[in-house]
Amino acid sequence: MTGQNRIADSAGGQARGAQAAPLRIGIAGLGTVGAGLVKLLRGNETIVAARAGRPIAITAVAARDRTRDRGVDLSGVTWHDDAVALATDPDVDVVVELIGGAEGVARRLVTTALEAGRPVVTANKALIAVHGAELAALAERTGVPLMFEAAVAGGIPAIKTVREGLAADRLTRVGGILNGTCNYIMTAMRESGRPFADVLAEAQALGYAEADPSTDVDGIDAAHKLAILAGLAFGRPVAFASVHVEGIRGIDALDLDFARALGYRIKLLGLARRREDGVEARVHPCLVPEKSPIAQVDGVFNAVVVEGAFVGRLMLEGRGAGEGPTATAVAADLIDIARGSAVPVWGRSADGLTQIEALPRAAFHEEYYLRLNVHDRPGVIADVTAVLRDHGVSLRSMLQHGRAEPAPEDGTAGGDPSVPLVLVTHRTRESAMLEALGRIAALSVVIGTPAMIRIDPG
Ligand SMILES: NC(=O)c1ccc[n+]([C@@H]2O[C@H](COP(=O)([O-])OP(=O)(O)OC[C@H]3O[C@@H](n4cnc5c(N)ncnc54)[C@H](OP(=O)(O)O)[C@@H]3O)[C@@H](O)[C@H]2O)c1
Repeated sequence: MTGQNRIADSAGGQARGAQAAPLRIGIAGLGTVGAGLVKLLRGNETIVAARAGRPIAITAVAARDRTRDRGVDLSGVTWHDDAVALATDPDVDVVVELIGGAEGVARRLVTTALEAGRPVVTANKALIAVHGAELAALAERTGVPLMFEAAVAGGIPAIKTVREGLAADRLTRVGGILNGTCNYIMTAMRESGRPFADVLAEAQALGYAEADPSTDVDGIDAAHKLAILAGLAFGRPVAFASVHVEGIRGIDALDLDFARALGYRIKLLGLARRREDGVEARVHPCLVPEKSPIAQVDGVFNAVVVEGAFVGRLMLEGRGAGEGPTATAVAADLIDIARGSAVPVWGRSADGLTQIEALPRAAFHEEYYLRLNVHDRPGVIADVTAVLRDHGVSLRSMLQHGRAEPAPEDGTAGGDPSVPLVLVTHRTRESAMLEALGRIAALSVVIGTPAMIRIDPG
């Protein structure tokens, strides 16, 4: 096809798109993503109609507060005070759920719509991570699409890539940097040397973190996305409750400094791996080599890494949140539905598809970074390494900076008898590491709780 023909073709597509009956959508939730979707569909109306083969028309909406100015014109659009009413509105072909939450009105709306035979598009990672298995079975029973591209990594087409682009390969690993708030906080801590609490307060002031930041900083949001990615990569949903989750509250600016001295950066990673004996699915901070591609992904950016036997390794990077990127992903699902192309929720028939439990943390096998606060006196290192030896943990390297500060001679308070001691282990089973760490923490020479961070090759 020549360049000219291609242009003529797409113009023809636009004309045909404009004539065909519109796909009528009802949007529940007009916050960041919902209002963003209205702006995108209006602003790119012609492009969307050409690619969808027909216009996409917003016929109904629902939110809590009718009076709120959302920066979009909703005249001529039916307003429902009860969002669940969208599921049975005769002028709605597709329900778009942009309210959020694994339970409550979002779950009722999606379930009612699927039961009524209405296709659903949602950005709701919590809902899909927790109830994806049963919703997929319901969607399959009633024969309608359930799409959620925006639920993982916002503007990055992660779901399409894993479920469709890599459908032929046996995927062995999926994950990455799945929470922009945590990545912003860790980047700012590394660059400024400031503590977690300071940087979190700044992120809240800038709108990068919620007033209640726990879903982000405790790793829950990343775990929702990881559970979805793992389900898609390995062809069956992973029970969300079995995902091992640790957040970033325990990361000290000191750890970021030591990581740098050792040639690493610290990132909150989601990691799902296929093993002979099952599937690992976990979210926790990791040291990654500072030269690795994922270590370069800073600020609010997300990165999705996938590995497969035939495809090798690939990494997608982009904005994981915000109205523009997230609305783009929602609209892509709507275009697929308008075209009539849909794939099974987990990439294969949900019939007989049971959830799998992820392997427990005792089965993890990693290199570990340990930071202990120890009394600055002879024999301490020998005590600590003896415990590691007893548990079969071998050391790769060790780092100690500075000396203890003696207490002032005048008897006033002050001084610090401890020094940080950093140990890096060879690969070892986490069960052995945890037992060793318990004994190390109980040594009289160790002050406070040791920090343990896993090391990933990146
Ligand atoms: N924000 C992002 O960048 C992003 C990225 C990826 C995925 N997501 C997901 O997208 C979804 C929406 O997120 P968001 O950031 O747009 O949330 P948001 O700004 O808080 O908006 C939520 C919307 O839901 C409406 N709502 C809340 N409870 C309702 C109820 N009981 N009945 C009807 N409407 C109700 C709110 O109405 P009022 O406006 O009247 O209060 C609001 O318009 C969530 O599942 C989220 O996880 C968000």
